[in-house]
Amino acid sequence: MPIARLNIATKKAFSRQIRGYTDSEKTAHDRVCEIIAECNIKEILRFDLGQNPNGCAPEVAEKLQYLSEQNDAHLILKNYPGPEISNLRDKLANMHGISPDQLLFSAGTEQMIGLIARSILEEKDSILVNRPSFFVFENVSNKMGAHILHLDLNVDSGFNWTEQTLERFKVMQKQYIPKIIWIANPNNPTGQAIADDILEEILRFTANYPTLVVIDEAYGEYLDPPNGFKSISQIVPNQRNLLVLRTFSKAYGLASIRLGYAITSDENLSAAIRLHSNAYPVSELSIMLANFALNHMDYLEQTRQETIRCRKQFLEWTKSIPKLEVINSDCSILMLKHKHYDSITLRRLLEKLGIFTSSIPGSDEIAKSFIRISLGRERENRILYEQLRCI
Ligand SMILES: Cc1ncc(COP(=O)(O)O)c(C=O)c1O
Repeated sequence: MPIARLNIATKKAFSRQIRGYTDSEKTAHDRVCEIIAECNIKEILRFDLGQNPNGCAPEVAEKLQYLSEQNDAHLILKNYPGPEISNLRDKLANMHGISPDQLLFSAGTEQMIGLIARSILEEKDSILVNRPSFFVFENVSNKMGAHILHLDLNVDSGFNWTEQTLERFKVMQKQYIPKIIWIANPNNPTGQAIADDILEEILRFTANYPTLVVIDEAYGEYLDPPNGFKSISQIVPNQRNLLVLRTFSKAYGLASIRLGYAITSDENLSAAIRLHSNAYPVSELSIMLANFALNHMDYLEQTRQETIRCRKQFLEWTKSIPKLEVINSDCSILMLKHKHYDSITLRRLLEKLGIFTSSIPGSDEIAKSFIRISLGRERENRILYEQLRCI
């Protein structure tokens, strides 16, 4: 039987045992079905998905319903993306205080992260990432054959970037001159935000190096002021080695529209990313809904307030469980560990109760002991707390 002849890059990635797209929702779904069958569970609670538990703004859902009820709905669906993208571009540019041509769109930020790696990295290049961090940064860099440099965040400082972290970073930057520094702010899985002055110092320090600094603000809306953005792209405008990522998947509650964007002032990099992108990465329907979501920025304020309330409440509840260590966070995800169980055991015990959580990427001590949860609604968080108390 004829088989596809894979290229060298793919073969090398296979030999390094790098996993790409593994149909992760199917895997999780299979596990959910197994648990329901094995443990006779009626309700499954998903704390493993970093999404807004309250969904999107009701007006966005109403808009979707309205569109589907129009006589010409079939005509809307026939369209390749067109004029709506210019509206979205102008609106976002206006809100971020940037020029519209500084924006690039993709099917979720995850796709953009892959496009950046494909545009820039080659074998033996170095990339720098703080650890723990969003696993996709390492994954896409590994696929390109890059060497991964880890800057460890310390549990004693609550996984924050401290002055000492900054000093260690400077030493590594000088020594290795990585091609990309990947930083999520707030960080996934720790939920911690980096202080503005530290971020500014990272950018000041790298400004004269051939190093691209990617600041992934996927959870950035949890830090923004009402009706606006507090993005590093505004604090340090037009820095050419800075690229910022944002998404509609998190606080906007629109992960299913698969819409992310990048902000960069490097025209060369923009052109390279466009070269690797497909012609229409995002559907017209997604763009329409994103445009509509931007008309309801007050929903983000509600989300922020509700997240703060639920996080405080969960931290307060779990204080009464001495065998639990819960790390405070600046957004909707946080890390915790059990003093008697390692992370694999704790996740299995919770799964048997119908509660799904995430592992921390890697194989170091932090990954072995901590798990990540993405907060749900009050009722769900209460169930998680009650179960953690009994474990
Ligand atoms: C830091 C970070 N960046 C990007 C993403 C991917 O977001 P998107 O849905 O836009 O692909 C996630 C999702 O968990 C994330 O945590």
